[in-house]
This record gives sequence, structure tokens and C-alpha cells, in this order.
Amino acid sequence: MQTDPQIRPMRESDFSEVLRIEREVFADPWPLEAFNILPQERSWVLCLDGILRGYIMFHLILDEAIILNFAIDADFWRQGLGELLLQHSLKTLLAEGASKIFLEVRESNLAAQKLYEKHGFINLGVRRDYYKNPSEDAIVMVRYEHGHTHAGL
Ligand SMILES: CC(C)(COP(=O)(O)OP(=O)(O)OC[C@H]1O[C@@H](n2cnc3c(N)ncnc32)[C@H](O)[C@@H]1OP(=O)(O)O)[C@@H](O)C(=O)NCCC(=O)NCCS
Repeated sequence: MQTDPQIRPMRESDFSEVLRIEREVFADPWPLEAFNILPQERSWVLCLDGILRGYIMFHLILDEAIILNFAIDADFWRQGLGELLLQHSLKTLLAEGASKIFLEVRESNLAAQKLYEKHGFINLGVRRDYYKNPSEDAIVMVRYEHGHTHAGL
């Protein structure tokens, strides 16, 4: 029987499992070296029965957090794991004082956009040709925490 999902910070020894998912789900995956930013960033992994099934990474600067990377193993999509990982990490960052959460997402990535909308993110604008391989616009989304508005940007 499957045990409950476990969420903990990412560590270097997770990189091979993270890369396997990264290459599986993204057309333009980060190379291994890109994950060397780990010590400067906030990140979490989600494990099922001790096996890594998802990860999320943020850059946090003052009260603003930016989602840098986020994926769930494709064999485990639509089971609420992405949502669980996002909620857990946002809760932690908010408790630490983050008040605005930004992200970019491929215009064609409706699954991720739906997930973000479900969790209070709104469209802020478009970055033309932000992505390569294939070239595509990014939708910029933001979630403002209570008491914070556009005026605070
Ligand atoms: C986006 C991603 C992380 C979602 O992970 P997930 O574990 O499948 O998501 P969840 O099961 O928690 O879904 C939560 C909500 O997101 C939305 N959603 C997720 N996948 C969806 C899909 N394929 N189509 C429509 N809505 C979808 C739904 O609103 C869903 O809620 P519901 O099941 O009650 O309808 C996953 O699809 C993924 O890893 N994609 C590839 C990498 C990626 O796009 N990362 C984000 C880059 S910005």
C-alpha cells in the first residue's frame, strides 16, 4: 500500500532523480549544472514510498518569490501531487514573509496555468519569445497575498 507523500527540501543527492523527471516532462530541460544554484534557492521535493516524484524551486528576494522550476513525474499527474507540493511550499514561504509569488509559464501549458489559477494566481502579462526549443511566449502570473495589491508592485 502506498504511504502518504513526504515533502522535504531538495538536496544534491536528489539531482539524478530530479533530472530524470526534468528530461521527461520538459522539451527544454535544465542541464545538471543549472541545479547548482540549489544552495542559494528554496526548494522542495515530494516523495512517494521513498521515490522522488516531484520538485519545486523558488528564488526568494525580500518579500518576492519566483517559481524557477516545478514538475511532477508524468506517471503521477492528476493525482493532486502538484497541488500538494505547491501548497506546502507556498505556506512555508508565506510564513517567512513572502507576499508576492511570480512565475512564467509557456502559453501552451494550459495544465499548469489551470493549476496556478486554481491557487489564486492571476495573469500579469506576456513576455514575447521568452522560451526557446520551441520558441514561445511566456504568460507571467502573480499571486498577491492578503493585504497586498498591484500598488505594492
Ligand atoms: C503542471 C504539473 C506540475 C501539474 O501536476 P499534477 O500533479 O498533475 O497536478 P494536480 O493533480 O495537483 O492538479 C491540480 C489542478 O491543476 C489543474 N490541472 C492539472 N493538470 C491538468 C490538465 N492536464 N488539464 C487541465 N487542468 C489540469 C486542475 O485544475 C487540477 O485540479 P483538478 O484535478 O481538481 O481538476 C504537471 O502537469 C507537470 O509536471 N507538467 C510538466 C511540467 C510543467 O509544466 N511545470 C510547470 C512549468 S511553469
